Amino acid sequence: MNVIANDVVFAYHSSPVLNSVSLRLEPSEVLGIIGPNGSGKTTMLKCLNRILSHNQGEILIHDRDVAKLKQIDIAKMIGYVPQHAGGGHGMPTVFEVVLMGRRPHAAWQSGKRDEEKTWEILASLDMERFASYRYDQLSGGQRQKVLIARALAQEASILLLDEPTSSLDIKHQMDVMDLLRDLVRREGFSVCAIVHDLDLAIKYCDKAVMMKEGRIFAAGEALDVITAENIKSVYGVEAAVDVVHGRPHVMIV
Ligand SMILES: Nc1ncnc2c1ncn2[C@@H]1O[C@H](COP(=O)(O)OP(=O)(O)O)[C@@H](O)[C@H]1O
Ligand SMILES: [Mg+2]
Repeated sequence: MNVIANDVVFAYHSSPVLNSVSLRLEPSEVLGIIGPNGSGKTTMLKCLNRILSHNQGEILIHDRDVAKLKQIDIAKMIGYVPQHAGGGHGMPTVFEVVLMGRRPHAAWQSGKRDEEKTWEILASLDMERFASYRYDQLSGGQRQKVLIARALAQEASILLLDEPTSSLDIKHQMDVMDLLRDLVRREGFSVCAIVHDLDLAIKYCDKAVMMKEGRIFAAGEALDVITAENIKSVYGVEAAVDVVHGRPHVMIV
């Protein structure tokens, strides 16, 4: 098991926003975290990565207690793509942003090996020609791919992504999800992604965790979790899950 969270409790202030949240992430799987705004999805992802330190419960990454690990060791195991990441650090080029992912491995300064690795990753994602583009000049879909490239440069086998497709058009949503699925299939990555779009989640996720008000409402095979009944209970909307063109789709009715 790559990630195990048992009964995680977390509070920003006095009242907890995560109440006994447990989940499991296995190798070679895509786990979707779904749930309405404010249900605690981002907070949970940040606890897994120890951007936030949970108050109670236990989180194990490759069987090691996350509370006892150094940030640099977490970064070697987990690549994190935050929501709406953009700008903030000068005007780096695509190459520089991906090279930043080498930091947990690089000595004081990045070396030839780190640059080679960066080129390899850009090539594997068919992004070489963007290497000298400024990050802030890219489209949303291209930025998302650069951030995934940066996570890959960390050589971490676990990727956590916070709504990687939310600002993208349908074509780029599918490109990003296809890329993630491909990494899972070919390289054995495990991916845990917060996915806003339930139809995208049912198409791309093997397993799903549905959150409501800081708790797990349902968890398991994506098809068993993303049901009309659960959508009604958690989001309060009428939906239908029907097979169209050979695969289940979520439709809001
Ligand atoms: N930095 C923060 N300080 C205080 N409360 C926060 C902070 N970030 C999020 N919250 C609160 O925690 C709850 C869960 O938020 P979040 O994890 O961002 O939910 P989601 O990602 O599911 O939309 C919300 O009620 C939100 O207002
Ligand atoms: Mg969020």
